[in-house]
Amino acid sequence: MTIVVTGGAGFIGSNFIFHMLQTYPDYRIVCLDKLTYAGNLSTLKGVMDAPNFRFVRLDICDREGVVRLFSEEHPDAVVNFAAESHVDRSLLDPAPFFRTNVEGTRTLLDVSRRSGVKRYHQVSTDEVYGALPLVGGQAFTEQSALHPNNAYSESKARADEIVLQYAGQGFPATISRCGNNLGPYQHPEKLIPLMIVNALADQPLPVYGTGENVRDWLYVEDHCRAIDLILHEGRSGEVYNVGGHNEMRNIDVVKLICKELDRPESLITFVADRKGHDMRYAIDAAKIRNELGWLPETTFRDGIRRTVRWYLDHREWWQEIVSGEYQSYCRRMYGDR
Ligand code: NAD
Ligand code: TYD
Repeated sequence: MTIVVTGGAGFIGSNFIFHMLQTYPDYRIVCLDKLTYAGNLSTLKGVMDAPNFRFVRLDICDREGVVRLFSEEHPDAVVNFAAESHVDRSLLDPAPFFRTNVEGTRTLLDVSRRSGVKRYHQVSTDEVYGALPLVGGQAFTEQSALHPNNAYSESKARADEIVLQYAGQGFPATISRCGNNLGPYQHPEKLIPLMIVNALADQPLPVYGTGENVRDWLYVEDHCRAIDLILHEGRSGEVYNVGGHNEMRNIDVVKLICKELDRPESLITFVADRKGHDMRYAIDAAKIRNELGWLPETTFRDGIRRTVRWYLDHREWWQEIVSGEYQSYCRRMYGDR
C-alpha cells in the first residue's frame, strides 16, 4: 500500500509518518510538503533514508506537480495534514489560509479522484464547531453545526465541506476533527512549546486574557492511532471527532509546565487577549469509540511530562526554529517591545 502524507514535515504529520512506518513496515510512505515556516526537514532525518519512504518538496496547490507525483507513485491513499495551522497568524494575514487549506484541499481531492485513489482522509479540527461557553453547553458531536470564528477555523470548515461534497459524489473520503495536540516536534509558536521554550530561557510566559480559556488536549500519538484506524476501517463520507476528554484551562496548563520545569509562576504574564478568542472547546468522541474502538492511551499528565522531556532533549531542533523566521513573526505579533 502506498500512502501520500501531505504536511508530513510539520508537527502531527511527522508523528503520523513515524507511527505508520513503525506499524506497517511493508507500506510505502510518500511525504509531500511545501516546507513553509512550519515545516522542518530535520524532523524527518530519522526516516529519510528508509527504503519505503520518499520526501518531495511540493505545494498542494501546485496541480501539475501533484498530478506528476501521483502518476509516478499511484497512491492507494492520501492523508492531508498540509495546512496553515496557527490562529494568531490567520489574524495577521488570512490569505495563505484560504489558499492552502481550501484551494489546496480542493486540488488534492480532484487529483486524487482522477488518479483512482481508493481512500482520502482529511485531518480537520474541533475549531470548526466554534466555541462553547465556559460553563454548560454540549460537547461537540459530529452533528454540531459549524460556527468558525477566525480565518483558520473558517478555512478548515470550508475544506471539510468540499471533502463531504466529494464523498457525496461517491469518492471515498473521511474526516477527523481533533482537539489540541501536544507532543514532540510542535512549532514553538503554539501554547505548550512556546511556554516550555520561554520558561527554559526565563522569559515571560504570555497568557492571553485571563487564561481561563479551555482546550481539550490529546497526546499526538493517540491522534495518529485514531487517523490510522479511520483510514483503514472508517466509513466513507463520515466525520469522526477525536478527543481525550481532557479539558484544561490555559492558565493551569502553563502552571503545570512551570512545575515540571521547576520555574517560578511569577514568569506568567497576562497579555492582551486574542481577538475573537474562542472560550472553550470540548469534544464528544463517542462515535469513534463505539464504531472503531478507539480510546486515548496517554493521560495529559504523562503527555506533558513526555513533551517537556522531549524539548529538554532536543534543544538544537527548536533553537534553529526560534532563531529563524520566528523572530520576524514575534515582531509582527508583539511589536518591538
Ligand atoms: P503544522 O503547522 O505543524 O504543519 C503544517 C505542515 O504543512 C508543515 O510541514 C508545512 O510546511 C506544510 N504545508 C503548509 N502549507 C502547505 C502547502 N501549501 N503545501 C504543502 N505543504 C504545506 O501543523 P500541525 O499542527 O501538524 O497540523 C496538521 C493538521 O492537523 C492541520 O490540518 C491542522 O488543521 C490539523 N489539526 C491540528 C491540531 C493541533 O493541535 N496542532 C489539532 C487538530 C487538527
Ligand atoms: P494555540 O496553541 O495557538 O492553539 P489554538 O488557538 O488552536 O487552540 O493556543 C492554545 C490556547 O492558548 C488558546 O486559548 C490561546 C492560548 N495562548 C496563550 O494564552 N498564549 C500564547 O502565547 C499562545 C500561543 C496561545
